[in-house]
Amino acid sequence: MTTQQQIVRLFQERGDECISGEEISRILGVTRSAVWKQIGLLRERGFRIEAHPSKGYRLIDSPDSLLPADLQAGFETAVIGREFVYFEKTESTNTRAHEIATQGGAEGTVVIAECQSAGKGRLGRRWVSPPGVNLYTSVILRPPILPQAAPQLTFLSAVAVARAVRDVCSADARVKWPNDILLNGRKVAGLLNEMSAESEKVHFVVLGIGINLNMEREQFPPDLRYPATSVAIETGEGVRRRLFAQTLFRHLDQLYNRYLADGVAPILKEWETLFDLNGRMVEVDFQHSRIEGRVEGLDEDGALLLRLANGALERVLAGDVRPI
Ligand code: BTN
Repeated sequence: MTTQQQIVRLFQERGDECISGEEISRILGVTRSAVWKQIGLLRERGFRIEAHPSKGYRLIDSPDSLLPADLQAGFETAVIGREFVYFEKTESTNTRAHEIATQGGAEGTVVIAECQSAGKGRLGRRWVSPPGVNLYTSVILRPPILPQAAPQLTFLSAVAVARAVRDVCSADARVKWPNDILLNGRKVAGLLNEMSAESEKVHFVVLGIGINLNMEREQFPPDLRYPATSVAIETGEGVRRRLFAQTLFRHLDQLYNRYLADGVAPILKEWETLFDLNGRMVEVDFQHSRIEGRVEGLDEDGALLLRLANGALERVLAGDVRPI
Protein backbone atom coordinates (compact mmCIF):
# COMPACT_ATOMS: atom_id res chain seq x y z
CA MET A 1 0.00 0.00 0.00
CA THR A 2 1.32 3.47 -0.83
CA THR A 3 1.50 6.23 1.81
CA GLN A 4 -1.51 7.85 0.18
CA GLN A 5 -3.56 4.66 0.43
CA GLN A 6 -2.49 4.19 4.05
CA ILE A 7 -3.63 7.73 4.87
CA VAL A 8 -7.06 7.03 3.33
CA ARG A 9 -7.29 3.84 5.36
CA LEU A 10 -6.40 5.71 8.58
CA PHE A 11 -9.07 8.31 7.87
CA GLN A 12 -11.60 5.57 7.26
CA GLU A 13 -10.68 3.79 10.48
CA ARG A 14 -11.15 7.03 12.43
CA GLY A 15 -14.55 7.78 10.88
CA ASP A 16 -15.81 11.12 12.23
CA GLU A 17 -12.85 11.58 14.57
CA CYS A 18 -10.00 13.91 13.64
CA ILE A 19 -6.43 12.67 13.38
CA SER A 20 -3.45 15.01 13.58
CA GLY A 21 -0.70 15.25 10.96
CA GLU A 22 1.76 14.37 13.69
CA GLU A 23 -0.07 11.15 14.57
CA ILE A 24 -0.34 10.14 10.92
CA SER A 25 3.38 10.73 10.39
CA ARG A 26 4.20 8.69 13.52
CA ILE A 27 1.93 5.75 12.57
CA LEU A 28 3.16 5.62 8.99
CA GLY A 29 6.81 6.41 9.75
CA VAL A 30 6.97 9.32 7.28
CA THR A 31 7.69 13.03 7.75
CA ARG A 32 4.92 15.53 8.46
CA SER A 33 5.67 17.30 5.22
CA ALA A 34 5.16 14.00 3.34
CA VAL A 35 1.75 13.67 5.05
CA TRP A 36 0.88 17.24 4.15
CA LYS A 37 1.90 16.66 0.53
CA GLN A 38 -0.20 13.48 0.24
CA ILE A 39 -3.22 15.22 1.76
CA GLY A 40 -2.83 17.93 -0.90
CA LEU A 41 -2.71 15.28 -3.63
CA LEU A 42 -5.78 13.53 -2.22
CA ARG A 43 -7.67 16.85 -2.28
CA GLU A 44 -6.67 17.33 -5.91
CA ARG A 45 -8.17 13.92 -6.61
CA GLY A 46 -11.49 15.00 -5.16
CA PHE A 47 -11.20 13.79 -1.55
CA ARG A 48 -12.83 16.31 0.78
CA ILE A 49 -10.57 16.54 3.83
CA GLU A 50 -11.38 18.99 6.59
CA ALA A 51 -8.48 20.53 8.51
CA HIS A 52 -9.13 21.61 12.09
CA PRO A 53 -6.37 23.84 13.56
CA SER A 54 -6.10 22.07 16.91
CA LYS A 55 -7.54 18.59 16.20
CA GLY A 56 -6.12 17.67 12.81
CA TYR A 57 -7.72 16.20 9.70
CA ARG A 58 -11.00 14.43 9.00
CA LEU A 59 -12.22 12.78 5.80
CA ILE A 60 -15.61 14.16 4.81
CA ASP A 61 -16.10 12.51 1.44
CA SER A 62 -14.13 10.39 -1.04
CA PRO A 63 -14.60 10.57 -4.79
CA ASP A 64 -15.56 7.56 -6.81
CA SER A 65 -12.18 6.12 -6.05
CA LEU A 66 -10.96 2.61 -6.75
CA LEU A 67 -8.28 2.74 -4.07
CA PRO A 68 -8.00 -0.57 -2.19
CA ALA A 69 -9.04 0.99 1.11
CA ASP A 70 -12.22 2.35 -0.48
CA LEU A 71 -13.00 -0.85 -2.35
CA GLN A 72 -12.51 -2.97 0.75
CA ALA A 73 -14.84 -0.89 2.91
CA GLY A 74 -18.02 -2.90 3.42
CA PHE A 75 -16.82 -5.63 1.09
CA GLU A 76 -16.82 -9.32 1.91
CA THR A 77 -16.04 -12.22 -0.36
CA ALA A 78 -14.53 -15.67 0.08
CA VAL A 79 -11.76 -15.50 -2.53
CA ILE A 80 -11.93 -12.58 -4.97
CA GLY A 81 -10.44 -9.39 -3.58
CA ARG A 82 -8.48 -10.97 -0.72
CA GLU A 83 -5.85 -8.56 -1.87
CA PHE A 84 -6.12 -5.45 -4.07
CA VAL A 85 -3.19 -4.00 -6.01
CA TYR A 86 -3.81 -0.52 -7.40
CA PHE A 87 -2.00 1.47 -10.07
CA GLU A 88 -2.67 5.06 -11.03
CA LYS A 89 -1.27 4.15 -14.43
CA THR A 90 0.25 0.98 -15.78
CA GLU A 91 0.87 -0.70 -19.12
CA SER A 92 -1.73 -3.41 -18.65
CA THR A 93 -3.33 -4.88 -15.54
CA ASN A 94 -3.01 -8.32 -17.17
CA THR A 95 0.76 -7.89 -17.46
CA ARG A 96 1.00 -6.75 -13.82
CA ALA A 97 -1.24 -9.60 -12.60
CA HIS A 98 0.85 -12.09 -14.55
CA GLU A 99 4.02 -10.82 -12.84
CA ILE A 100 2.40 -10.88 -9.40
CA ALA A 101 1.11 -14.43 -9.95
CA THR A 102 4.50 -15.61 -11.23
CA GLN A 103 6.01 -14.33 -7.99
CA GLY A 104 3.50 -16.38 -5.97
CA GLY A 105 0.64 -13.84 -5.65
CA ALA A 106 -2.39 -15.30 -3.89
CA GLU A 107 -5.49 -16.59 -5.61
CA GLY A 108 -8.13 -13.88 -5.60
CA THR A 109 -5.66 -10.99 -5.93
CA VAL A 110 -7.28 -8.18 -7.90
CA VAL A 111 -5.20 -5.73 -9.91
CA ILE A 112 -6.86 -2.44 -10.82
CA ALA A 113 -5.59 0.55 -12.79
CA GLU A 114 -7.08 3.99 -13.32
CA CYS A 115 -5.50 4.01 -16.74
CA GLN A 116 -3.56 1.63 -18.99
CA SER A 117 -0.89 2.84 -21.40
CA ALA A 118 -0.89 -0.42 -23.39
CA GLY A 119 -4.20 -2.12 -22.56
CA LYS A 120 -4.36 -5.47 -24.34
CA GLY A 121 -7.34 -6.72 -26.32
CA ARG A 122 -7.85 -10.09 -27.96
CA LEU A 123 -5.88 -11.18 -31.00
CA GLY A 124 -3.16 -8.59 -30.40
CA ARG A 125 -5.57 -5.66 -30.50
CA ARG A 126 -5.33 -2.73 -28.10
CA TRP A 127 -7.85 -1.82 -25.41
CA VAL A 128 -8.41 1.92 -25.19
CA SER A 129 -8.02 2.80 -21.51
CA PRO A 130 -8.39 6.50 -20.61
CA PRO A 131 -8.17 7.48 -16.91
CA GLY A 132 -10.95 7.98 -14.41
CA VAL A 133 -13.92 6.76 -16.43
CA ASN A 134 -13.86 2.98 -16.78
CA LEU A 135 -12.85 -0.18 -15.00
CA TYR A 136 -9.69 -2.08 -15.97
CA THR A 137 -9.05 -5.07 -13.80
CA SER A 138 -7.31 -8.44 -13.73
CA VAL A 139 -7.99 -11.20 -11.24
CA ILE A 140 -5.58 -14.01 -10.37
CA LEU A 141 -7.14 -17.47 -10.03
CA ARG A 142 -5.48 -20.80 -9.30
CA PRO A 143 -8.19 -23.31 -10.13
CA PRO A 144 -7.48 -27.04 -9.83
CA ILE A 145 -8.34 -27.73 -13.48
CA LEU A 146 -6.62 -29.00 -16.61
CA PRO A 147 -5.27 -26.36 -19.02
CA GLN A 148 -7.84 -27.29 -21.68
CA ALA A 149 -10.66 -26.35 -19.26
CA ALA A 150 -9.31 -22.82 -18.67
CA PRO A 151 -11.41 -21.17 -21.45
CA GLN A 152 -14.47 -22.06 -19.33
CA LEU A 153 -13.49 -19.21 -17.02
CA THR A 154 -14.28 -16.69 -19.76
CA PHE A 155 -17.95 -17.62 -19.45
CA LEU A 156 -17.75 -17.09 -15.72
CA SER A 157 -16.41 -13.54 -16.16
CA ALA A 158 -18.96 -12.76 -18.87
CA VAL A 159 -21.85 -13.79 -16.61
CA ALA A 160 -20.38 -11.77 -13.71
CA VAL A 161 -20.08 -8.63 -15.88
CA ALA A 162 -23.61 -9.03 -17.25
CA ARG A 163 -25.00 -9.47 -13.73
CA ALA A 164 -23.13 -6.37 -12.48
CA VAL A 165 -24.45 -4.27 -15.40
CA ARG A 166 -27.97 -5.49 -14.60
CA ASP A 167 -27.67 -4.84 -10.83
CA VAL A 168 -25.88 -1.48 -10.86
CA CYS A 169 -27.04 0.05 -14.16
CA SER A 170 -30.46 -1.64 -14.57
CA ALA A 171 -29.49 -2.47 -18.14
CA ASP A 172 -29.91 -5.70 -20.05
CA ALA A 173 -26.41 -6.75 -21.04
CA ARG A 174 -26.08 -9.57 -23.55
CA VAL A 175 -23.07 -11.72 -24.43
CA LYS A 176 -21.37 -12.29 -27.74
CA TRP A 177 -19.40 -15.52 -28.02
CA PRO A 178 -16.81 -15.89 -26.71
CA ASN A 179 -15.46 -12.74 -25.03
CA ASP A 180 -17.70 -9.70 -25.46
CA ILE A 181 -20.51 -8.10 -23.49
CA LEU A 182 -22.96 -5.97 -25.41
CA LEU A 183 -25.55 -3.31 -24.65
CA ASN A 184 -28.02 -2.60 -27.45
CA GLY A 185 -25.82 -4.63 -29.81
CA ARG A 186 -22.70 -2.57 -29.12
CA LYS A 187 -19.66 -3.72 -27.18
CA VAL A 188 -19.34 -2.36 -23.62
CA ALA A 189 -16.90 -4.85 -22.18
CA GLY A 190 -14.21 -7.27 -23.27
CA LEU A 191 -12.50 -10.18 -21.56
CA LEU A 192 -8.95 -11.37 -21.99
CA ASN A 193 -7.91 -14.44 -20.04
CA GLU A 194 -4.29 -15.47 -19.95
CA MET A 195 -2.89 -18.61 -18.44
CA SER A 196 0.35 -20.08 -17.17
CA ALA A 197 0.30 -23.87 -17.29
CA GLU A 198 2.21 -27.04 -17.98
CA SER A 199 0.74 -30.09 -19.71
CA GLU A 200 -1.38 -31.38 -16.82
CA LYS A 201 -1.55 -28.40 -14.50
CA VAL A 202 -2.73 -24.80 -14.48
CA HIS A 203 -0.36 -22.63 -12.44
CA PHE A 204 -2.68 -19.64 -12.65
CA VAL A 205 -5.20 -17.87 -14.84
CA VAL A 206 -5.46 -14.09 -15.13
CA LEU A 207 -9.02 -12.95 -15.82
CA GLY A 208 -8.69 -9.60 -17.60
CA ILE A 209 -11.85 -7.52 -17.66
CA GLY A 210 -12.29 -4.12 -19.29
CA ILE A 211 -15.65 -2.35 -18.98
CA ASN A 212 -16.47 0.97 -20.58
CA LEU A 213 -18.55 2.60 -17.87
CA ASN A 214 -18.50 6.40 -18.22
CA MET A 215 -16.45 6.86 -21.39
CA GLU A 216 -17.83 9.47 -23.76
CA ARG A 217 -18.31 9.10 -27.50
CA GLU A 218 -15.36 11.37 -28.36
CA GLN A 219 -13.02 9.19 -26.31
CA PHE A 220 -13.38 6.23 -28.68
CA PRO A 221 -10.95 6.07 -31.58
CA PRO A 222 -12.72 6.03 -34.95
CA ASP A 223 -11.06 2.83 -36.17
CA LEU A 224 -12.52 0.26 -33.75
CA ARG A 225 -13.44 -2.99 -35.51
CA TYR A 226 -16.60 -3.60 -33.54
CA PRO A 227 -19.03 -0.80 -32.66
CA ALA A 228 -18.03 0.14 -29.14
CA THR A 229 -19.97 2.02 -26.51
CA SER A 230 -20.12 2.65 -22.77
CA VAL A 231 -22.80 1.96 -20.20
CA ALA A 232 -23.30 5.73 -19.73
CA ILE A 233 -23.78 6.31 -23.47
CA GLU A 234 -26.36 3.54 -23.65
CA THR A 235 -28.30 4.31 -20.47
CA GLY A 236 -27.80 8.08 -20.32
CA GLU A 237 -26.65 7.76 -16.70
CA GLY A 238 -23.21 7.86 -15.11
CA VAL A 239 -22.04 4.74 -13.31
CA ARG A 240 -20.52 4.73 -9.83
CA ARG A 241 -17.34 2.85 -10.53
CA ARG A 242 -16.64 1.71 -6.99
CA LEU A 243 -20.11 0.27 -6.53
CA PHE A 244 -19.82 -1.38 -9.94
CA ALA A 245 -16.42 -2.90 -9.11
CA GLN A 246 -17.60 -4.22 -5.74
CA THR A 247 -20.71 -5.73 -7.33
CA LEU A 248 -18.64 -7.32 -10.09
CA PHE A 249 -16.17 -8.87 -7.63
CA ARG A 250 -19.03 -10.20 -5.51
CA HIS A 251 -20.57 -11.92 -8.52
CA LEU A 252 -17.19 -13.25 -9.64
CA ASP A 253 -16.65 -14.65 -6.17
CA GLN A 254 -20.04 -16.33 -6.05
CA LEU A 255 -19.68 -17.76 -9.57
CA TYR A 256 -16.13 -18.98 -8.98
CA ASN A 257 -17.14 -20.83 -5.83
CA ARG A 258 -20.06 -22.35 -7.72
CA TYR A 259 -17.69 -23.37 -10.52
CA LEU A 260 -15.34 -25.09 -8.07
CA ALA A 261 -18.24 -26.93 -6.46
CA ASP A 262 -20.44 -27.82 -9.45
CA GLY A 263 -18.34 -27.39 -12.59
CA VAL A 264 -19.06 -25.20 -15.58
CA ALA A 265 -22.55 -26.50 -16.50
CA PRO A 266 -24.64 -24.03 -14.41
CA ILE A 267 -22.49 -21.15 -15.65
CA LEU A 268 -22.88 -22.13 -19.31
CA LYS A 269 -26.62 -22.43 -18.72
CA GLU A 270 -26.82 -18.88 -17.41
CA TRP A 271 -24.51 -17.64 -20.18
CA GLU A 272 -26.83 -19.13 -22.82
CA THR A 273 -29.75 -17.09 -21.41
CA LEU A 274 -27.70 -13.98 -22.25
CA PHE A 275 -26.80 -15.13 -25.76
CA ASP A 276 -29.01 -14.02 -28.64
CA LEU A 277 -27.54 -15.98 -31.53
CA ASN A 278 -28.86 -19.46 -30.72
CA GLY A 279 -30.61 -20.77 -33.82
CA ARG A 280 -29.32 -17.91 -36.00
CA MET A 281 -27.15 -18.12 -39.11
CA VAL A 282 -23.70 -16.64 -38.47
CA GLU A 283 -20.31 -16.35 -40.05
CA VAL A 284 -17.18 -16.88 -38.02
CA ASP A 285 -13.84 -15.39 -39.02
CA PHE A 286 -10.70 -16.89 -37.62
CA GLN A 287 -7.33 -15.76 -38.88
CA HIS A 288 -7.66 -16.19 -42.67
CA SER A 289 -10.62 -18.52 -42.80
CA ARG A 290 -14.37 -18.01 -42.61
CA ILE A 291 -17.17 -20.51 -42.02
CA GLU A 292 -20.93 -20.14 -42.00
CA GLY A 293 -23.53 -22.12 -40.15
CA ARG A 294 -26.50 -22.15 -37.81
CA VAL A 295 -25.70 -21.79 -34.08
CA GLU A 296 -26.73 -24.84 -32.05
CA GLY A 297 -25.50 -23.67 -28.64
CA LEU A 298 -22.31 -24.51 -26.80
CA ASP A 299 -20.71 -27.80 -25.86
CA GLU A 300 -19.52 -28.52 -22.33
CA ASP A 301 -16.15 -26.85 -23.01
CA GLY A 302 -17.78 -23.64 -24.25
CA ALA A 303 -17.00 -24.31 -27.94
CA LEU A 304 -19.60 -22.86 -30.32
CA LEU A 305 -21.55 -25.54 -32.19
CA LEU A 306 -22.33 -24.67 -35.81
CA ARG A 307 -24.49 -26.75 -38.15
CA LEU A 308 -22.88 -26.35 -41.56
CA ALA A 309 -24.70 -26.39 -44.92
CA ASN A 310 -23.52 -29.99 -45.49
CA GLY A 311 -25.19 -31.09 -42.24
CA ALA A 312 -21.96 -31.56 -40.25
CA LEU A 313 -21.70 -30.18 -36.73
CA GLU A 314 -18.56 -28.05 -36.35
CA ARG A 315 -17.01 -27.18 -32.98
CA VAL A 316 -15.61 -23.66 -33.19
CA LEU A 317 -13.00 -22.82 -30.57
CA ALA A 318 -12.13 -19.21 -31.46
CA GLY A 319 -13.07 -16.45 -33.86
CA ASP A 320 -15.21 -13.38 -34.49
CA VAL A 321 -18.91 -14.21 -34.88
CA ARG A 322 -21.40 -12.11 -36.88
CA PRO A 323 -25.05 -12.80 -37.60
CA ILE A 324 -25.89 -12.98 -41.32
C1 BTN B 1 -11.14 -7.72 -25.97
O1 BTN B 1 -12.36 -7.60 -26.05
O2 BTN B 1 -10.42 -7.64 -26.96
C2 BTN B 1 -10.54 -7.98 -24.62
C3 BTN B 1 -10.27 -6.69 -23.87
C4 BTN B 1 -9.74 -6.90 -22.47
C5 BTN B 1 -9.35 -5.60 -21.81
C6 BTN B 1 -8.97 -5.75 -20.37
S1 BTN B 1 -8.77 -4.22 -19.56
C7 BTN B 1 -8.09 -5.02 -18.17
C8 BTN B 1 -7.18 -6.10 -18.70
N1 BTN B 1 -5.88 -5.58 -18.98
C9 BTN B 1 -5.59 -5.59 -20.28
O3 BTN B 1 -4.54 -5.18 -20.79
N2 BTN B 1 -6.61 -6.11 -20.97
C10 BTN B 1 -7.69 -6.52 -20.09
